[in-house]
Amino acid sequence: MYEEFFGFKELPFNVTPDPRFLYRSVSHRDALAYVTYGVFQRKGFIAMTGEVGVGKTTIVGAFIDLFEPSLEVAFVFSTRFPFDQLLFLICKDFGLEADGLNKAQMLLLLNEFLIRQNEDNRNAVLIIDEAQNLSPDVLEELRMLSNLETRDRKLLQIMLVGQPELETLLNMNELRQLRQRIPGICRISMLDREDVESYIRYRLDVAGRRGNAVHFTSDSFDEVFHYSSGIPRLINILCDRVLLVAYVANTRVVDGRLVREGIRELESPGMSSGKHRAAKPRA
Ligand SMILES: Nc1ncnc2c1ncn2[C@@H]1O[C@H](COP(=O)(O)OP(=O)(O)O)[C@@H](O)[C@H]1O
Ligand SMILES: [Mg+2]
Repeated sequence: MYEEFFGFKELPFNVTPDPRFLYRSVSHRDALAYVTYGVFQRKGFIAMTGEVGVGKTTIVGAFIDLFEPSLEVAFVFSTRFPFDQLLFLICKDFGLEADGLNKAQMLLLLNEFLIRQNEDNRNAVLIIDEAQNLSPDVLEELRMLSNLETRDRKLLQIMLVGQPELETLLNMNELRQLRQRIPGICRISMLDREDVESYIRYRLDVAGRRGNAVHFTSDSFDEVFHYSSGIPRLINILCDRVLLVAYVANTRVVDGRLVREGIRELESPGMSSGKHRAAKPRA
């Protein structure tokens, strides 16, 4: 609704992960490099963690976007499935017909599929998002799954993506065999104050800002940083609201006062105290 007023071609602060808007902070760049290295070196297992909204799924999307032609990807959101159900979803996502098959049959089917992919020089990647929800038993079964290999290479790369609790899970004593397989765990960090500023400027540019149609002052970045703790999702939600506030106020200058106004609006519905944050990240 405010796009035209500011001269945007599209909304700059959409919350859907979109690789075109990928801002490469040092941490996001490292994460992309880690994932790429792990998959193409066929490490078998890789793990990426970070707070809610920090950009994990975005990095996964960017990775797939970059290497799509040489990958065969299955993408699964983990809830608390037993392994059989997870296996069924994996087969489905790889495009395999697994209806009515038992576990052994599904494993056989998957194995044949992976061997074919390998012969075609395609790298099969299983991505499990929200992997902090997996049970230790299921993780142990996944380790067995990653044992599928030819003489010299892993047939399946398993990428575990999740909130910081995933690290605690992987560090459990009973999972030490799995843990030893993972080459470090990549943790995406929140943006610092400078990154928050660059991040906002970058998204405004990608959305097609014309000249100086909208100007964020230095103290506006301070306020956004303070509110969001450098979590991109919170930055997006806030900046979207702030642009709306600016539009309504008929101004193209976003300053600290305007950002605080946006924060008040976000916090007001159903909140008893204005000090409360809607989605306060853990420290
Ligand atoms: N590096 C980044 N560049 C651009 N946008 C990002 C970046 N990281 C996160 N975002 C944005 O923040 C929001 C939340 O990111 P997401 O990947 O869903 O977080 P997570 O999976 O860690 O919860 C998305 O709208 C995404 O576009
Ligand atoms: Mg996510």
